[in-house]
Amino acid sequence: MMHKTDWHKTLANPDGYASNWDWCVEHSEYHFDDSIQDQPGDWFDILGTFQGDWTEERNRLVAETTPINWATRKFYGDVDIESPMLEQEEYDILQGGGKPKELILTNMNDGWETYPTLYAMMDYFGLEVSGVEGAKKRGHVQLTGQMFNRHIDKLWDRCPDDPERVARITVMLDDWQPGQFYMYGNLVYSNWKAGEVHIFDWPNVPHCTANTSNTPRAVLQVTGLKTDRTREILKNTNKDRVFKIA
Ligand SMILES: [Fe+2]
Repeated sequence: MMHKTDWHKTLANPDGYASNWDWCVEHSEYHFDDSIQDQPGDWFDILGTFQGDWTEERNRLVAETTPINWATRKFYGDVDIESPMLEQEEYDILQGGGKPKELILTNMNDGWETYPTLYAMMDYFGLEVSGVEGAKKRGHVQLTGQMFNRHIDKLWDRCPDDPERVARITVMLDDWQPGQFYMYGNLVYSNWKAGEVHIFDWPNVPHCTANTSNTPRAVLQVTGLKTDRTREILKNTNKDRVFKIA
């Protein structure tokens, strides 16, 4: 990605903010100027595409995910507490007249033992949290009618001493269908192919997703700290690069 983030800024105390959006904007280096049309590579980047067939595992994943909203999204992860900024996060949906307890997607965090192909894809990039097996691996499935309102990620706490190491990588499990929306900055990401992998500039770029198609939209998301392997892959991003899994 083009932008070079200042990784050593001081984070504001969230107590001084009613809105999660406002807190995130305060720390973001995105331009917030909609007369500028964002392009691929500015704030998100396609790394390449996996080859293979994971249809059976994908279908099982869709059936086994659990519904979440902002309040419950961390229950199924490594943290069994609410987000420390939940009130501010829900405030943003209320400001738009929405319902903060509505579901944003369905999620699976553990039990990857019976998903060897999906696991291999998430493992591929060498992201680690106390070893590569510790990287946070999630299946995110968005059902018809679900939406994840526009926000900026707050991953600073994953590595407070060196947040530059934190990365979040997404693998699309199906070909794109009209009605499925992913937006980074003011760019709509669409027409992806099954296996396509992307990364985004998490401290800076606002993003959101929605599914208005009649097909569940399934992706994998892996979050961890970059290793030498990750950096090698990120150095050679190319839409046509093929990732092979055994
Ligand atoms: Fe996000």
